[in-house]
Amino acid sequence: MSHIRGRFQKAADELAVKYTSSLPFDWRLYRQDIRGSIAHARMLAKQGIILKEEAEIITKGLASIQKEIEQGKFQFKPELEDIHMAIEARLGELVGEAAGKLHTARSRNDQVALDMRLYVREAIAKTLTKIRQFQQALISLSEANKDVAIPSYSHLQPAQPVLLAHHLLAYFEMLQRDAERFSDSLKRTDVMPLGSGALAGVTYNIDREFLAGELGFNRLSQNSIDAVSDRDFVVEYEAAASLCTMHLSRLAEEIILWSSAEFSFIELDEAYATGSSIMPQKKNPDVAEVARGKTGRVYGRLMALLVTMKALPLAYNRDMQEDKEGLFDTVDTLLSTLEVFAGMVKTINIKTANTERAVNKGHLLATDLADYLVRKGEAFRSAYDIVARLVSYSVERGKSFSELSPSEFKRFSPLFREDIYNITVASSIASRDVTGGTAPRQVERALASAKKIVGLELKKR
Ligand code: ARG
Repeated sequence: MSHIRGRFQKAADELAVKYTSSLPFDWRLYRQDIRGSIAHARMLAKQGIILKEEAEIITKGLASIQKEIEQGKFQFKPELEDIHMAIEARLGELVGEAAGKLHTARSRNDQVALDMRLYVREAIAKTLTKIRQFQQALISLSEANKDVAIPSYSHLQPAQPVLLAHHLLAYFEMLQRDAERFSDSLKRTDVMPLGSGALAGVTYNIDREFLAGELGFNRLSQNSIDAVSDRDFVVEYEAAASLCTMHLSRLAEEIILWSSAEFSFIELDEAYATGSSIMPQKKNPDVAEVARGKTGRVYGRLMALLVTMKALPLAYNRDMQEDKEGLFDTVDTLLSTLEVFAGMVKTINIKTANTERAVNKGHLLATDLADYLVRKGEAFRSAYDIVARLVSYSVERGKSFSELSPSEFKRFSPLFREDIYNITVASSIASRDVTGGTAPRQVERALASAKKIVGLELKKR
């Protein structure tokens, strides 16, 4: 690595080189790096800063390096600091002198900023596709179980009956917000930093607009110091990923609960369940558990980068190299979680006999009885008290509401009539007919709009 030892007489300490090298992980930026370098070489030639022939030689050399890497033939030399140096050094071996002209009007500081932006931009696109596919799985499970009612919970205590589809579409909404967050962050990621040089800009007559056009960027960075110092876009991806994994983790928790013997609302497809090494009867929801577990690591990566960045003086500091492993790990974790969840959710079997039993247990219609009294003229607070007494009466006798006689009802309020028996799980659900409510008509509407969103988005990609 004599060519970057520059002013130094001494060779670098081997351990220090190894310690500071990012090559073991940033090799993953090779595609972005080569793409950026090809655009840069073309721009230099167009501006007459290097010769057209030199640009062609450089471009061809870079293309064959990409092939070498993809065919596993590229030699990653541990003494080279990072993927940028590794590619440039190899280019020198392949094309000789012309290689030395590629780094004209560029610094590794704006180069790495560019590569990271290209990488995150692609990661956002992949993430959006995976989110849509996962939302699609939620829709298909909802549609396959359209009429299934389940107890909803607050404080993990049975609360009111809802349609299972309504519950699942709650996750659709969460993932919809996640998709919006990723899309929105793209605006700030889609900014072209080349031309910032080391930090102050470059002295050559470059064409930044041309570079942006070649690389498909919407905007140019407007301050060279900021452009080489900024990793907000990485933080934003990791923050959006943290929220998204939080949502997936909550679903994971429900899948784990629901597949427990105590709930037994669902049965996971065997392809997504694991046995125990000692207890033959077990069918464990390991995929959901691992996803719940990985959430901690995604949050950790976000926290790590925020802390890494928090006290860095402008502009580039080598600390920033720490952005990479966290980002790569977050992208890998999120994409694989979304993908495996789509498969798992799509194949969940709902145990309708159990959901049916559960929804008819536990006096879930208590609120409906109070609403009934209100409609007959009672104030809500006193209606609440009457039904509360009715609940403890029924609990003591081990009876459900439907098992109480008309005279038992009347003992609590003269407003109770025969039509009290018209209050059922189905009527309870149907009566919550407000926008965003669980009534079949509303859920049907929500499903239709969900399908439209996902259909359109998947077609776009
Ligand atoms: N490996 C470095 C990183 O990942 C690339 C930029 C290096 N720039 C420098 N001046 N050493 O951040």
